[in-house]
Amino acid sequence: MQIDILTLFPEMFSSPFSTGIFKRAIDRKLVRINIHNIRNYTHDKHHTVDDYTYGGGAGMILKPEPIFEAVESIKPEEIGDLTTILLTPQGRPFCQQIAQELSKYGHIILICGHYEGVDERVREHLVTDEISIGDYVLSGGELAAMVVVDAVVRLIPGVLGSEISPLDDSHATGLLEYPQYTRPAVYRGWSVPEVLLSGNHARIAKWRREQVILRTLERRPELLDKANLPPEERQLITELKERLSSSSKRGQNDYDIISQIKTKS
Ligand code: 6GU
Repeated sequence: MQIDILTLFPEMFSSPFSTGIFKRAIDRKLVRINIHNIRNYTHDKHHTVDDYTYGGGAGMILKPEPIFEAVESIKPEEIGDLTTILLTPQGRPFCQQIAQELSKYGHIILICGHYEGVDERVREHLVTDEISIGDYVLSGGELAAMVVVDAVVRLIPGVLGSEISPLDDSHATGLLEYPQYTRPAVYRGWSVPEVLLSGNHARIAKWRREQVILRTLERRPELLDKANLPPEERQLITELKERLSSSSKRGQNDYDIISQIKTKS
């Protein structure tokens, strides 16, 4: 995969991509990441990248010409395999499913927006997608681009060691992950759940699945509605919800009830 990032602040990208899985993926030629300074595509002596907004108003807008020229300087091998994305708070909300979708492309161009915005003609005539990483305002698209690149690169086959499967991640299944422990078995008097030390793989698998459901019910109940679950798990969720609602009528809160259910199972 080739990733080209257009930015006014190329220096922001030097450290994140030179460590950890990025470094490994780049060294092993699984991904090539090129950083382009938008300012290098200006022609005036002041290297102007922004200007006032037509119609009046505060804040500067990124000019179209340097962005178009920077994108056009990147020669895609195959147009059909390319997606050109503007990072903007107005984009579609980024999620694991979009990361999976993007990981199928051979070539991704990411444009980091800045200031008060980007000339609308960039959206209309240059980009093919717009992505936001959440409902809050960042001062630029750079951190958002790093988030997207991280989530996508780790899905490229061979990037993670074979021992780690991105299919087990939180959100890959649409649900949250089960709790995990490592040694020591007792730390400051806090014990690892007995079932995990039992060596009984069937019991462990059952416990983990229950924890996935409980944890998701507790923290992100809306994810359960969207998840693709077998009927017996739907039944379990219905029972848990009933226990939750009947206990909350007795004045207990959800967290107390969930911790009671957890200790019993
Ligand atoms: Cl992609 N850009 C900016 N500037 N702010 C954001 C964002 C992107 N996603 C969430 N907030």
